[in-house]
Amino acid sequence: MVSRVIPVDPFDLVVFGATGDLANRKILPGLYRRFFAGQIPEGSQIIGAARTEMDAEAFRAQTRAAITEHVGKAKQDKAQIEAFLNILDYVAIDAKGEAGWAELAAKVQPGKVHAFYFSVAPALFGDLAERLHRNKMAGPEARIVVEKPFGRDLETARALNATLAAHFDEHQIYRIDHYLGKETVQNLMAVRFANILFEPLWNSQYIDHVQITVAETVGIGGRGSYYDKSGAMRDMVQNHLMQLLCLIAMEPPYHFDPDAVRDEKLKVIRALQPVQSSDIVRGQYLGLKRKGEEGLAGYLEDVEDRNSKTESYIALKTHVANWRWQGTPFYLRTGKRLRARTSEIAITFKQPPHSIFDEDDADWRENVLVIRLQPNEGMNLKVMIKEPGPGGMRLVQVPLDMSFAEALGEDGADIPDAYERLIMDVIRGNQTLFMRGDEVEAAWAWTDPILNGWVERGDKPQPYDSGSSGPEDALMLMHRDGRRWREIRE
Ligand code: BG6
Repeated sequence: MVSRVIPVDPFDLVVFGATGDLANRKILPGLYRRFFAGQIPEGSQIIGAARTEMDAEAFRAQTRAAITEHVGKAKQDKAQIEAFLNILDYVAIDAKGEAGWAELAAKVQPGKVHAFYFSVAPALFGDLAERLHRNKMAGPEARIVVEKPFGRDLETARALNATLAAHFDEHQIYRIDHYLGKETVQNLMAVRFANILFEPLWNSQYIDHVQITVAETVGIGGRGSYYDKSGAMRDMVQNHLMQLLCLIAMEPPYHFDPDAVRDEKLKVIRALQPVQSSDIVRGQYLGLKRKGEEGLAGYLEDVEDRNSKTESYIALKTHVANWRWQGTPFYLRTGKRLRARTSEIAITFKQPPHSIFDEDDADWRENVLVIRLQPNEGMNLKVMIKEPGPGGMRLVQVPLDMSFAEALGEDGADIPDAYERLIMDVIRGNQTLFMRGDEVEAAWAWTDPILNGWVERGDKPQPYDSGSSGPEDALMLMHRDGRRWREIRE
């Protein structure tokens, strides 16, 4: 299957923080992959901007190295790489001062789409927005892309929205949540709204519960100073897991249109019930000592504050208070240093109301629809069938398994990275997969009381072993409702 490359007009993209980790790991390699796919038209420019004094040649060398490291071999074409490097430029800039701004303004060419990617600390968002405005780069053709974290609570998110709104209209602001750029996450909307099959069952009458899991094997490594101020709740739940929940729980929008989709997601966030403290478990990973080996540091060794109460794991139960979901709990969990890297949404259906089969002849299990985000993007529906063979009517559960890569042939195996897809959406001016200001604020309004509760109670996370499934109490969260978490495995 040949994937469609949707053409865009020539554009200028300025990447602030162009020497940083995200730019080198994701943004620049992603842009090269789009160039390789023929999606970046002639006449476009990519301008790196950062504090480091260097010239365009040095920036090209840095980008060449980033491509070598982060782009698959099949796309490492010498001539293409050189052609891509030719559209790069660089300006040394002071986000808080005047240096570099006139030079940047002179490079940004009139008559094109201008996108400004703020891949910098959130504390600089306001400075950049204000200077873009002052230097006449905030016209109607301009878009700004802001990374998470978008605030650290409702108050700071509101302030940040107000700062950006002083210089840009909402339709020019692209708040990135890279989970929305993942292939399977978008597929969730296709599966739900392009098939009649699921919709009649998509409610509390037929769905027993929903589990959303984002498990990682990595620790917080070199990110301790950022992460310790955030924790899993701010780093993952308030944004990524919340977005997944929205896509599962939302009503069908009247059209696949940015505001129609975001209006429906907003309704879900607003309908989220406050979470009881007894419905949340927090954890913090322990180190792992291996005989004769270096071992793995524990959370408290990865951060400066040896008494840190920040969580690297969280599991919680919440409800969406509306007609569709009354009585169907949503269980969310995410953590670092767990036993496998896997992200999935599992929708467990209720048992049939009456069984015509003898209990003894069936290994009864509920139907489960598993949507795998990573690795091995795909879907899997577990159904009951008759066990093959002459043994009479014995029932067993089997998976109807669909791997997107297999189903879509070679191109499917080459699914674009979330960042490259989202950057091209910015250029096209499509905000569907970006968070609107009111959505982010509503998400914080739900998160704030939980975070404040921990502080007020002096709540401490429970230790859990690196390589495990998380703290014991997280199992109890499900057990006490007569349910079980799915096993964390790749
Ligand atoms: C980021 C978080 O937003 O998402 C990280 O800050 C996390 O802590 C990452 O590791 C996970 O993203 P992915 O795409 O690897 O699942």
